[in-house]
Amino acid sequence: MSDRKLVILTGANSGLGFEVLKQLLSQETPYHIILAVRNIQQTETKINSIVPSHQSVEIVKLDLSSLTSVKSFTQNILSRKPSLHINILILNAGVVKATLTKTDDGFEHTFQVNHLSNVILVHELLPRLIESGPDSRIILVNSSLHKPGTGSKESGENRPILDIENLDGSKMYFPLLFYRNSKLAQVLFGYQLDKFLNKKGEEERKVNVSIVEPGFCPTTELARESAIFTQFFLKYILSWAPFTRTSEQGGAVITYAAISSELENKSGLYINRLCQIDKSSDESYDEEKQKFWWKTSCDLLGIEEDWSGLIFDRKEILG
Ligand SMILES: NC(=O)c1ccc[n+]([C@@H]2O[C@H](COP(=O)([O-])OP(=O)(O)OC[C@H]3O[C@@H](n4cnc5c(N)ncnc54)[C@H](OP(=O)(O)O)[C@@H]3O)[C@@H](O)[C@H]2O)c1
Repeated sequence: MSDRKLVILTGANSGLGFEVLKQLLSQETPYHIILAVRNIQQTETKINSIVPSHQSVEIVKLDLSSLTSVKSFTQNILSRKPSLHINILILNAGVVKATLTKTDDGFEHTFQVNHLSNVILVHELLPRLIESGPDSRIILVNSSLHKPGTGSKESGENRPILDIENLDGSKMYFPLLFYRNSKLAQVLFGYQLDKFLNKKGEEERKVNVSIVEPGFCPTTELARESAIFTQFFLKYILSWAPFTRTSEQGGAVITYAAISSELENKSGLYINRLCQIDKSSDESYDEEKQKFWWKTSCDLLGIEEDWSGLIFDRKEILG
């Protein structure tokens, strides 16, 4: 297994994640792919007949709505002997909760699954990603909905606005707003992570970070908590609209960010639905906000804001 690149893919059992899995399996390059999912049995059944003999797949339980589950996942990965190299971490899993729901950790569900749990996953797995370089990659699956000016009603309740006073939804809650906020928090985190990892002037990057917008792919299960009519409309009517993308196309953007040689040694990029380097929202480039939400996320998770203890020069350990 050591000669293979190791990929961790969250949300691999459905929608875009499942497409990414199929696309990785179809590569000539042999991978070992860890499918980090909630439902092991359903995933087993789904992948049963699609893994070609030159590829290797393993399913490991991960529930992003529980920090305990995230910790046991990372402990499982980090305790392997001989130790696993992690080359590509694809943080794809995501959710839109239809009603205000709190996790057992006390956070609003969408914010924890789409953002906070990813921060802790990166925090725990980062030393392994650095060690496995030089071209190890973190892919944050984002959405154009983090930008103002996208989506349905803009001026009203759905405009993304990260409000520290209302992270728990106690002042007001709209499902799409909280989804959009979680994705805005993720972009801010992605840029701050890139700056922290890849200091200007350093000849070699520590880890490449890409933020990916797969485009609007209405045939996935993302709207599964919406009204039946909405689901029907998305899957069978809106999916014919020219601006929509198939799940395969959406997955291809994520796969591109994960394995394309064009992105070697490139980091801090926002990649759009056409696999082009693009701009995220103006707000996401606000350095004060990047720092503020980095600190806030660390505080909420009870981890040090300063991650310098986690990073090291790869040459030091390789000799
Ligand atoms: N579809 C779009 O138009 C679109 C557009 C932009 C961005 N995105 C992003 O693309 C990513 C994939 O979404 P999708 O459209 O493929 O939706 P999807 O079909 O609903 O897939 C979401 C995946 O996330 C997993 N997931 C949800 N909650 C989880 C949890 N608590 N712990 C672990 N895994 C969890 C789901 O697992 P279960 O099956 O166990 O629930 C599923 O595998 C998301 O980050 C989404 O925000 C989607």
